[in-house]
Amino acid sequence: MFAISLGEGAELRPIEPWQAQEFLTHVDRAREYAGPWVPLTALTTDLESARERLQSFADRQAADTGRLYGIWLDGTLVGGVLFRIFDTANESCEVGVWLEPSAAGRGLITKASRVVIDWAVDTRGMHRVEWLASSANDRSIAVAERLGMTRDGVLRESFVWQGVRHDMEVWSVLAPQWRKTRDADRAEGSAAR
Ligand SMILES: CC(C)(COP(=O)(O)OP(=O)(O)OC[C@H]1O[C@@H](n2cnc3c(N)ncnc32)[C@H](O)[C@@H]1OP(=O)(O)O)[C@@H](O)C(=O)NCCC(=O)NCCS
Repeated sequence: MFAISLGEGAELRPIEPWQAQEFLTHVDRAREYAGPWVPLTALTTDLESARERLQSFADRQAADTGRLYGIWLDGTLVGGVLFRIFDTANESCEVGVWLEPSAAGRGLITKASRVVIDWAVDTRGMHRVEWLASSANDRSIAVAERLGMTRDGVLRESFVWQGVRHDMEVWSVLAPQWRKTRDADRAEGSAAR
C-alpha cells in the first residue's frame, strides 16, 4: 500500500507477517547467495519460521527498536533492508541488507539504503548509522564505500557462522558526514543536468 519508488520498476515497501509465504518464496531463491552472510535468510526455512521472523520485526517496529522493509522489482520481492539495531537513546542504528542473486548489480541496495538512512538521520535524529560486514564480503563492503561510510575498524574473529570464523568490519557514517556527502552529490547531479 505504501511504496517508495527506487526507479526502473523497483519499490521499497514494508513487509509484514501476513506476507510470510511471499517472504519464504523469496528467501528460498536468496538462500544460497545470502545465507553465508545473513543469518536471517538461512534461519528462515519454512512458513512458520518466516512468519516468526516477520513477527519479530513487527514487534521490534512497535517497540521502535528495529525495522524491516522489502525491495520489490517488477512486482517480485527480491531483497530487503533492515535496521538490526535502532537505539534511539544513543541515536545509533545498524543497517543490514540482502538480495536474491538475480537482483544484484543494479544499485537497488545502495538506493534502498539511502532512503532508510535519510529517514533515520532526518526524521529520527540518528547520529550514527553502522554497517557490519565480514572482511570476506567484498560486495557488502563496496556498498558501505559507495554510501560514503568510514571504516571504523575490525572486530577480529568475532562472529562464527556456518562453521566460519569471520573478521567483522565496522563501517559507519555520522549525521553531519551523511548530510554533507548527500548535499555534494545533489549539487553535482544538478550541475550535470
Ligand atoms: C551485499 C549485496 C546486497 C550487494 O548487492 P549489490 O547488487 O552489489 O549492491 P547494489 O544493489 O547497491 O548494486 C551495486 C551494483 O550495481 C551497479 N549500479 C547500477 N546502477 C547503480 C546505481 N544507480 N547506484 C549504485 N549502483 C548502481 C553498481 O555499479 C554495482 O555494480 P558492480 O556489482 O558491478 O560493482 C549483495 O551482494 C548480497 O545480497 N549479498 C549476499 C547477502 C549479503 O552479503 N548481505 C550483506 C551482509 S553484511
